[in-house]
Amino acid sequence: MENTEKVKNLIDLRGKAKLGGGEKRIASQHSKGKFTARERIHMLLDEGSFEELDMFVTHRCNNFGLEKEKYLGDGVVIGHGTIDGRSVYVFAQDFTIFGGSLSETMALKICKVMDMAMKMGCPIIGINDSGGARIQEGVTALSGYAEIFERNILASGVIPQISAIFGPCAGGAVYSPALTDFVIMTEQNSYMFVTGPKVVKSVTGEDISIENLGGADVHARKSGVSHFRVADEQTGIQRIRELISYFPQNNLEEAPIENCSDPINRLEDSLNEIIPDNPNSPYDMKVIIAGIVDDGKFLEIHKDYARNIICGFARFNGVSTGIVANQPNFLAGILDCDSSRKAARFVRFCDAFNIPVLTLVDVPGFLPGSGQEYAGIIIHGAKLMFAYGEATVPKVTITIRKSYGGAHDVMSSKQLRGDFNYAWPTAEIAVMGAAGAIEVLEGRAISKIENEEEKASYISAKVNEYKEKFANPYEAASYGYIDDIIEPRNTRFRVIRAFQALQTKKVVNPLKKHSNIPL
Ligand code: HXC
Repeated sequence: MENTEKVKNLIDLRGKAKLGGGEKRIASQHSKGKFTARERIHMLLDEGSFEELDMFVTHRCNNFGLEKEKYLGDGVVIGHGTIDGRSVYVFAQDFTIFGGSLSETMALKICKVMDMAMKMGCPIIGINDSGGARIQEGVTALSGYAEIFERNILASGVIPQISAIFGPCAGGAVYSPALTDFVIMTEQNSYMFVTGPKVVKSVTGEDISIENLGGADVHARKSGVSHFRVADEQTGIQRIRELISYFPQNNLEEAPIENCSDPINRLEDSLNEIIPDNPNSPYDMKVIIAGIVDDGKFLEIHKDYARNIICGFARFNGVSTGIVANQPNFLAGILDCDSSRKAARFVRFCDAFNIPVLTLVDVPGFLPGSGQEYAGIIIHGAKLMFAYGEATVPKVTITIRKSYGGAHDVMSSKQLRGDFNYAWPTAEIAVMGAAGAIEVLEGRAISKIENEEEKASYISAKVNEYKEKFANPYEAASYGYIDDIIEPRNTRFRVIRAFQALQTKKVVNPLKKHSNIPL
């Protein structure tokens, strides 16, 4: 072959590789409302920044006549590029080639790009669309998955890992996304489950559709496996780009600081009046968040899961910050198993990646009852306590209203190494609410009063006495557990000043192999 022909041959081969499993299968992918692996990568990365690797890799399987069917690149596209000018590594499974099923060589490609992401200290983004282990390959596909899992585990807490599920993700394949930091699922075409509907039916007799078993809605609302449920792939990709903007490249760096045009001393007058006089009336914590962060911009994680707690990213004076906040609008903002787990994982992510944490507290306590006790509220609550107590990033806590009992300790209290703990004048910091406390303390005395009117006035007097003593932040402030009581409308400024003061914070936990968080 002459040299010019060699070049032409290369161009032809590259063109062939870019067609994946062929035009017919690409058309079929499009007909399902799905994009191809390369289209997805091009939407994800800055224009023209993608460098593809391993385009000429083919599978090595000779079973079931597979040696006669080879595609350049096999079933995954890998490489690197940039998002807003910052390097990321990506892999996208190509459903047009053997349904994106995982072969030995595909696993090698994914591992290669994961290793490079680790070596270079850059985030890794995986786009999943696969029929699982390539059936013809057998055990090499299984070991390939395990190689990927091990890399997910070693990369955890070192580089941010994001998984998009834009198609099937079934069987053991679900564990790679589950090991990553954030999972995004599309509403129409994605599903994740360990065993599919047919196996479920044959083993347990349960008749269930694919969507009800492992669709985006199920994992966003019920299991919490997915952090984002999005209408379509374009929105999912936009979400990944947004997420990345809040993260540092790796655990040794800080997140990028954005220019901030929102005045740092902006007063939000409405916050002085947002808390209802009736302590049992709800209000929307998201209004407070929107009022204090830069430009009201907040990227909520796990929006539909355990809605009694809010987690997400925002910026204060351009600095990326994780926010955890009880939501009085849903189950009165109580802590239960799911909300504890959700917030614990979020706090740990922030701590691993040097993202400061702001905690907004309005929590009536832990949800009582056998349901929660049997589900392990003790262990799940301990997770959140552990996460806060172990975290060494700057931690600012604002008690907005209620902060009762064990939940007070858990929600980034001073004693769990909260750096600045402020309270609004509307805060109530006590062992429990007034009504419950009086029932316990005065139960015997109350039962002895026969006249109903007298009983009511006795209870009311005692409740008022209790409220006077505890339903305020001043008692806690008198011990120094609360560093200052701040005017609500000035919260943005106080938060920014607090985090500025914490920029030089250095805390190192005792040397150990690793902690033993109550899992
Ligand atoms: C080899 C596969 C495949 C697989 C799909 N294909 N899955 N090839 N191994 N696992 C091929 C099909 O033969 C077909 O090839 C093409 O991909 C598209 O598949 P279709 O069935 O036509 O597509 P669709 O109707 O959209 O259905 C998608 C699907 C279905 C639901 C994913 O293909 C399916 O159920 N696949 C098997 C899923 C499965 O049981 N996987 C093993 C899980 S166990 P052609 O040539 O026609 O285009 C597992 C263990 C991992 O993964 C353990 C890790 C620890």
